[in-house]
Amino acid sequence: MSDTKPHKIIIAIDGFSSCGKSTFAKAIASRLGYIFIDTGAMYRAVTLYALEHGAIRSGIVHEEEVVALLNEMAITFRFNPERGASDIYVNGDRVEGKIRTIEVSNCVSAVSAIAEVRHKLVAMQQEMGRKRGVVMDGRDIGTVVFPDAELKIFMTADPRVRAQRRYDELTAKGDNVSLEEIEQNVRDRDYQDMHRAISPLRQADDAIVLDNSAMTVEEQMEWVMERIEQARN
Ligand code: DC
Repeated sequence: MSDTKPHKIIIAIDGFSSCGKSTFAKAIASRLGYIFIDTGAMYRAVTLYALEHGAIRSGIVHEEEVVALLNEMAITFRFNPERGASDIYVNGDRVEGKIRTIEVSNCVSAVSAIAEVRHKLVAMQQEMGRKRGVVMDGRDIGTVVFPDAELKIFMTADPRVRAQRRYDELTAKGDNVSLEEIEQNVRDRDYQDMHRAISPLRQADDAIVLDNSAMTVEEQMEWVMERIEQARN
């Protein structure tokens, strides 16, 4: 038994879209006093910028044009006490509210399949987690970004349950979307995320699976806190 404080670890949370990874990761980080990093927000920010700067036209992602834009994009995070999490900024503009639209969701898998995009964002993520004490959620955290993370969780849930959750979220914000459209997007992104050539979504060999289709946030927290205890000691 050690009498020192538990050391800071990296908690990697990967899994399918709309599983509640970010909500879960944020709750864990605030419980532990760790930094929470939503890596999906970074891929979304690049996608939004590409849409706004004409590198995606009629839904077609023009790779070389997206890559050219990368050099002029500075992505930063700033803690927002109201949300209890960091907001994402591009070149000083807060884009948090604009990155979760269906337009961005429809193009983000294609943008995140570009090697140069992944290269830049993975390097940033590794730097942010250098001192450990982070909870990072995404698709490749346990496999590529931090293969040495002390705790790796792979989240999954029924696609219908996930579509309903995202639909509730978007309609609560006043977005005019249909449940069918959302479910199609969830299924398409699952497929694209798992089948892309670089860093496809897959469960790390040493990850623990959490299927939260029928679990409350409290149940998930109880489940994870036990595993964190084990991983920290
Ligand atoms: O977690 P999210 O749904 O906000 O992520 C948006 C997209 O970004 C997702 O469809 C795949 C991509 N992504 C990725 O390729 N790698 C990550 N680490 C995080 C997200």
